[in-house]
Formats: sequence, structure tokens, C-alpha cells
Amino acid sequence: MKQIKTIGIVGAGAMGRGIAQIAAQAGFDVLLFDVNAQAVAAARENLQQMLEKLASKGKLTTDEAQAALGRIQACTDIQAMGQAQVVIEAIVERLEVKRELFVQLEGIVSPECILASNTSSLSITAIAAACAHPDRVAGYHFFNPVPLMKVVEVIDGLRTERAVGDTLMELARQLGHAPVRAKDMPGFIVNHAGRGMNIEGLRIAQEAVAPFDQVDAIMREQAGFRMGPFELLDLTALDVSHPVMESIYHQFYDEPRFRPSPITAVRYAGGLLGRKTGEGFYRYVQGQQQVPEQAAVPAALEGLQVWLAPYHAVGHKRASALLKSLGVTAIASETPPDHALIVVTPYGEDTSSVVAAHQLDGERTVALETFFGLEPGRRRVLMCSPATLPKWRDAAHALLASDGTAVSVIDDSAGLVAQRMVATIVNVACDIAQQAIASPEDIDLAVSLGLGYPQGGPLRMGDALGAAHILEILRAMYRVTGDSRYRASLWLQRRVQLGLSLRAESASSFMG
Ligand code: NAI
Repeated sequence: MKQIKTIGIVGAGAMGRGIAQIAAQAGFDVLLFDVNAQAVAAARENLQQMLEKLASKGKLTTDEAQAALGRIQACTDIQAMGQAQVVIEAIVERLEVKRELFVQLEGIVSPECILASNTSSLSITAIAAACAHPDRVAGYHFFNPVPLMKVVEVIDGLRTERAVGDTLMELARQLGHAPVRAKDMPGFIVNHAGRGMNIEGLRIAQEAVAPFDQVDAIMREQAGFRMGPFELLDLTALDVSHPVMESIYHQFYDEPRFRPSPITAVRYAGGLLGRKTGEGFYRYVQGQQQVPEQAAVPAALEGLQVWLAPYHAVGHKRASALLKSLGVTAIASETPPDHALIVVTPYGEDTSSVVAAHQLDGERTVALETFFGLEPGRRRVLMCSPATLPKWRDAAHALLASDGTAVSVIDDSAGLVAQRMVATIVNVACDIAQQAIASPEDIDLAVSLGLGYPQGGPLRMGDALGAAHILEILRAMYRVTGDSRYRASLWLQRRVQLGLSLRAESASSFMG
């Protein structure tokens, strides 16, 4: 393994600074250069403040902070990069500018020096193509803010020598980060896997299934995510995420799973970018997110009788236990009696399809989300069809909220809200594995650290919820909507067919 002592960083913006900080703290000598001399000076000052802050919080001793700062050399001449064993580029995200820089660096650095790019959306192979020695060029994709986001993607371009990536993997561990290895494909791992939630969230909004805040609340309080799609989009800001959505969609040649939404196009054009502009999917007053008031719980319907549809075994069992805990015994007749509320528990279907398939009375039928469990405190989702009468909607709402658990009432949707979002997230991750862009282990690690998803990553999440159920949901969504974005990944389908874990690799897997 190559000995690294000095790390060169070109570009002293948000990312260059962050990388400089962790490298200096890990004991490496750091050379920091930027075309804009003021940017280097500002970075140095900012790093001093960051390190002093860490020392004042007791995360470092004052001596350690001083020593780390002493290891960072602000350079005014790019020739200084000649002393580095690795140069990490973190400049503007433009292919031709990066190419020019890499060619220039080849004329400065030693023949063994590794050249790494922190690009999040450009092809490493394309950046390296202009170089005389593309074998030493690799991707090294850190996340913002670098000291807190403990994952880095190491990307092999088509001509990258394997040992170069190996060295970067080892270096990442020395920097205190978890490295994951990815092929040079659009979005690498994290930005590819991230398509699942935000694109599906936008699709749900575009179908007018539920308001933004309800979708977010469902993802947090029912599916256990730290943030819903709209809170996340407001945080990253649409001037960053909208172009990324378009770029990944086009780079995969209009893959329907990644189809962006006109919702973000309009908001982007209108400057409703998110937190930083004070208005995005939410409004922000002095930095505080403004959440619409929750709808009041309607009055309970006296003498309510409930008939629970037996069509989905798991859903039926869970809903029946819930009704019992709420003091209601579902009527045990084969078909629904007149005057009873009809509750269905679909996986992947909408209420209308269940009503039509079983010739139910649509006016009295509501659907209940059961996929994530129904224990008290876990937000419940009640879905209506266009035929459901307000009287029955309110009766169901009052009943479901009667133990104090929050309830979201949504309009008809194949896969409700969290079901379809989680099935999409798992499906996209499965397809990353199918394309051998990364190993299942690295996909889970990258997504849990890079996106903060629960349950140890999307493949583990799929296993925990039941891969067969995920497949069932996707197939039903595909049937109801006719949209090929819901076609199941072959990775998922085969593992369900064979009763394997979603993390099971094929013995003859081929990293093409
Ligand atoms: P930034 O805009 O904060 O900083 C870029 C710096 O590069 C500026 O100081 C600029 O003066 C300098 N620069 C521009 N052209 C240069 C050149 N030819 N030679 C030397 N310096 C030059 O940008 P940021 O956010 O730090 O991003 C840098 C890179 O990291 C981009 O490739 C970006 O896609 C990638 N990235 C950014 C993330 C983020 O969240 N900001 C996350 C992951 C990757």
C-alpha cells in the first residue's frame, strides 16, 4: 500500500475545507490551494475557528487543535502540489474546468501521485480521459459537511488501476471515514439511491394524494425515517437538487424510475428553493419551519359497526388486533352487512381497485395502512376513494384516533404513502446491486450513513419488512398505474423467487 504523508487539496470551498480539516486532524500534512487567493485565506481562518470550537467543546485538546492547524499550509501557487502523494480536487462542478486542472496537475505532481476528484455528478472516466495517465485518477466523493458525514465513495473509472482505489479506501479509514466502493455510474451509490424517496414523494404530491407536511409526517412517524422528502428537499435546496434530478434522469436515458417532477421545476424557476430562501415546500420564519395546523379529529359515530375485509392476510390480522385494542369487534360475516364501515388493508393497490375487484360499497369503504404496524403512537394512515362519503371517512378517522394516535387522511393512491415510498427505495437499491455498481454491503452502508435511512440501509430494510411483500406492493402498483417506474428490479424478483436475502450476492456475480 502506498505511503501517504501529504495530501493536496485544490478548491478551498465548503468541501475542500472539510476535507482539509479531517486530514489535518488525522495527522496528515495538508496543502490547500484555490484559484481565488481570498478563498484560501478565508478557508484557513474558517478552519482555525472550527478547530478552536472543537477544542472549546473538549473534542480536541488545545495542543491538538494547534497542531492540526499547523499541518494545513495555505498555498498561493499550484506548483506546491508537487509535494503531495494524493491530490483531491474539490473545485467547481464543470467537466471542462476539472479536465483542464487534471492535465495541469499531471505536469506538476510525481508520477506515482494519485489524482482524486470529489465530483458528485460527473463521470470519473470522462474527467480522466484528458489525462496522459488515467490509471491514477479516481473518484473520492465526500459529503457535506465532511467532518460529520462519515462516508466517502471511492469510484473506479474505467481506466483506474485497482490499487489506486485500494489506497484511497485505506486512506479514508485513516481519516476516520467509512469508505464504500462504486463503479463509475451516474449518481454513484448515494445520489442514485436517493432517487427513491424524493422522486416518489414528488409523484405522490403530483397525484394530489396528500399535502407536503402530511407526506413528511407519515415518513417520519409511521415509517421511521429521520426526515420526509419535502423537508429533505428544503434542506438541500432546489438549486442543487432539481438539476441533479434532471441530470441523473437524462444520464440513465430517461429511466422512468427517475422521472423528475414539474413541481420542482416550477418552484426552482420561482425561487422557492428551500430553507435558505425562507420559502420552499414550507415557509421559514426566522429559520423556523412553519407547519400547517393538523386537522381536528372528528366526533365519533355512535354505534359504529365495522366490517374488515379479509383479502390481505397480514393486513387483516394487524387491523383486527388494532380494532380489538380500540374496543371494536369487527363483524365476522363473509360479505359486508349494510350500514357498516368497510375497512380494506391493501398492499400496493388503491382503494378504488379493491372496491371494484370485490364489488364493495365504495361510499362506505376506507383503506388502512398496515404495512409498518399499528401500535399506539405510530401515525396511522386512512385512505379514501373518490366515492367515500365524508360521514364514513370521519367515522373511521375518529375511531383510529381514539387512543390518541395521530391520523393522516389521504386521497386514493396505489401503495398509500409510506408503502409506495419504501417499496420504491428498496427497489432502486436492488437495481443498484443488480447493476453491480456496488456490493450489497456497501449499498446499505453508503445509504445509511449518507442519507440517514433507518434499519441499516435499504436492502436490510427490505429484508426486515419482507422482500416478498415489497415485490407484492410493486407489482400491484404497476398493475394499478400502468407506470413502468414500478416494475420490480430483477434483483428483488429473483431473491424472492429463491427465498434469499436481498443482500445475497450471486456466486458468479460479474462486475462489468
Ligand atoms: P464551492 O463553490 O464551495 O468551492 C469551490 C472552490 O473551487 C471555490 O473556492 C473556487 O474558487 C474554487 N475553484 C474554482 N475553479 C477552480 C480551479 N480551476 N482551480 C482551483 N480552484 C478553483 O464548491 P463545493 O461545494 O466545495 O464543491 C466542490 C466540489 O465538490 C464540486 O465538484 C461539487 O460537486 C463537489 N461536492 C459538493 C458537495 C456539496 O454539498 N457542496 C457534496 C459533494 C461533492
